[in-house]
Amino acid sequence: MTRPLQNRRILLVIGGGIAAYKALDLIRRLRERGAAVRPLLTAGAQEFVTPLAAAALAGERAHTDLFDRAEEADIGHIKLARDADAIVVAPATASLMARMATGEASDLAATVLLATTVPILIAPAMNVRMWQHPATRRNLATLRGDGVRVVGPNEGAMAEAEFGPGRLAEPSEIADAVEVMLTDSRPAPGFGFLAGREPAEAAKAGALAGRRVLVTSGPTHEPIDPVRYLANRSSGRQGHAIAAAAAAAGADVTLVAGPVSIPDPPGVRVVPVETARDMLAAVEAALPADLAIFAAAVGDWRPAEARDSKIKKDGAAPAPVALVENPDILAAIAQRTTDRPRLVVGFAAETDSVLDNARAKIVRKGCDLIVANDVSPAGGVMGGSANTVHLVGRDGTVETWPTLDKDEVGRRLVAHFAGLLGT
Ligand code: CTP
Repeated sequence: MTRPLQNRRILLVIGGGIAAYKALDLIRRLRERGAAVRPLLTAGAQEFVTPLAAAALAGERAHTDLFDRAEEADIGHIKLARDADAIVVAPATASLMARMATGEASDLAATVLLATTVPILIAPAMNVRMWQHPATRRNLATLRGDGVRVVGPNEGAMAEAEFGPGRLAEPSEIADAVEVMLTDSRPAPGFGFLAGREPAEAAKAGALAGRRVLVTSGPTHEPIDPVRYLANRSSGRQGHAIAAAAAAAGADVTLVAGPVSIPDPPGVRVVPVETARDMLAAVEAALPADLAIFAAAVGDWRPAEARDSKIKKDGAAPAPVALVENPDILAAIAQRTTDRPRLVVGFAAETDSVLDNARAKIVRKGCDLIVANDVSPAGGVMGGSANTVHLVGRDGTVETWPTLDKDEVGRRLVAHFAGLLGT
């Protein structure tokens, strides 16, 4: 039986911090999955774990500043950067992230990270306040923009009796993220001399000519009374970008859009709706279609009763708002026996176990493909301008794309769907 990381070479950069001890377990998890692991410890890491322990678990020499400066001729930083299929930084401390974000080459770890063109995954771990500091948020955004993948941090009790996000992701979660990253073999944009040269994979002009495409986008508003409603953080940017790209590829596009504050995309028929039930009716009215993409963040529940007049504060405790489930629009269309679009694509906004949930969702809903994305606070996606997506097929296969601007994700998705529909 081949193991998922068979013959993969991982350079594991261990940063300084109490979580460094978990990096030792990560070495074992990666090796169990078939990877060869070469450890590299920063000076800070060596305050918490020894190179000897890392080397013993890896079955390979562990690299440190001291050793490698002395033996640059033996295995230099360039060779370390090249002799790997991926680099994992765990724990990624605030300082290591700052050095990566500014391109500083002040120690062996930072030098290797600057010299590499292979995909990089970081698993941040730090104090809650350091994680939430604007400087770390900026560095994280820069790293994401450079194509660096991020796993965690998790929320929980931490040293110094604090609670919140900052705990290193579990070794098995990091190993899962490595697997996902290595299903995408393209070089990370922003790193190495190939950076930025990759041509945009937009659909060829006319790739969807003669096709009818239906897209849902944005949130829904589920009224509580005439002034209040239940909603979510969806901006509609991803769905609108898909609709725009499909129109640019020559399709006849209907965009059923929940309440958003972004402009209508050019060349698209827009049907504005408020609630999930309105959205379902508008989608059904727009059939038949060749391709249907359900990018809307539909409210799962609505208040059982929408009051006709404003609920007043009367000094007593507020009445609980009873909720009932909304219709599942994607499932309703994917499971139709008449007028089912040939290709039905769902989205999965997940905060945990992104791929497992997406795989379950594809079966439950009956669609052909799921575009999954991580909307946990660490994923930083919902409402933002960039997106990291995983394409999950009915057979469970996964294709992970680098973090890209939502317009670019839209163009690439449309190119992909046009290819699946064929000529
Ligand atoms: N969706 C839909 N109608 C709903 C709920 C979801 O059409 N009432 C669609 C979304 O547009 C998306 C997909 O279903 O394409 C998955 O949405 P998501 O919110 O991730 O999944 P849920 O079905 O709501 O499942 P859960 O909240 O349990 O993750």
